Amino acid sequence: MTRLFMTLLLTVFCSWVHAEGLYLKTINNTSLTTEQIQKSLKKLEEHKDIVLRGDLEVPPFHKRGKTSDSLAHSFCTTCHMSPPHTKSERTRTFMNMHTQYIACETCHFRPENVALTYQWQDTRNASLVRVKPELFRQAVQPEDKTKKTLPAKKEITQPAKGINPFYKIAPYYQDQAVALRNNEAFAQATKELWKKEGDLDNKAELRALIHAPLAEKGPECNACHNDKESLLNLAELGATAYQVEKIQNNIIAQFFARYKDKDQRIRIINLLR
Ligand code: HEC
Ligand code: HEC
Ligand code: HEC
Repeated sequence: MTRLFMTLLLTVFCSWVHAEGLYLKTINNTSLTTEQIQKSLKKLEEHKDIVLRGDLEVPPFHKRGKTSDSLAHSFCTTCHMSPPHTKSERTRTFMNMHTQYIACETCHFRPENVALTYQWQDTRNASLVRVKPELFRQAVQPEDKTKKTLPAKKEITQPAKGINPFYKIAPYYQDQAVALRNNEAFAQATKELWKKEGDLDNKAELRALIHAPLAEKGPECNACHNDKESLLNLAELGATAYQVEKIQNNIIAQFFARYKDKDQRIRIINLLR
């Protein structure tokens, strides 16, 4: 049964050989170990769909609808909730916020020794978006403090208007989008199998394949919020010098760098020391 299923999938792969992005290509070249499949089966057996309860949003991160439509075009949300992060109380709000402007694959598909670049992509049709500073939420430039209207607040970070929630920073390899698109045959086959009741063995194998090239955890905050070797070239993504500086030296991200282990607690007051 499993063999048959895999053969079917492979046929599906082959018909897509020309359009294949790096993620699918990597899946295609993966041979699973028995251990990987066993582990996957265990995860599926333990997996329970999590029911979202209302009022869990933490201000100032705006209350959203139960599902985040901007993630509807992601292959990952075939199975994962929108927003997807639930487990780490410390980071989940921030990581879910980032899914508004960063594609899953940017954080979870980071193969070693592969030179990826990052571009703004319209996730509805995978087209490139022309870069401009207004793609970022971060204010384009400092407020003009010479205007004597309201008493000067130290910093007004009015986000740029007209943000398109479908535009996300996504990985590219040799000018080709890495991510798998929902309309590709492999994604369709995944969806079909996932809709079926039971069939856990095939599901476990497919889940293992899908996750084999993925990083279980995303990068540390300072992989991007850092002015030395940032994963993202913010200037190439259209950010102004001011935006680059603000994003790289984000105080919350810097605060997170102080955590040395999972259970450590740090009080905000320590920031002042
Ligand atoms: C076919 C369904 C399916 C698809 C598609 C899928 N996942 Fe998962 N994923 C799961 C299940 C089931 C788990 C098990 C953990 C849980 O949620 O209980 C999981 C777990 C994970 C984990 C936690 C680590 C691990 O391996 O248990 C990460 C990270 C993850 N998925 C990321 C992604 C990303 C990124 C994508 C898209 C590229 C994706 N997943 C696509 C079903 C899926
Ligand atoms: C900005 C980076 C970033 C983006 C974008 C991102 N993730 Fe994550 N993800 C992380 C980090 C960091 C962790 C580890 C969190 C922790 O400490 O448990 C994680 C953990 C997970 C986990 C396992 C833990 C959990 O809470 O269930 C899943 C599943 C997951 N991500 C799925 C996704 C999916 C699906 C997307 C896209 C819709 C996505 N992620 C986008 C950074 C990111
Ligand atoms: C993959 C790169 C990446 C990672 C990893 C990442 N960030 Fe960010 N983060 C960004 C980018 C890019 C922006 C700017 C978005 C914008 O201005 O539109 C941002 C914005 C922010 C903001 C400002 C949000 C706002 O709207 O003003 C905060 C706060 C933040 N990140 C915290 C964190 C924390 C905390 C972590 C780790 C737990 C983290 N980030 C990990 C890329 C990342």
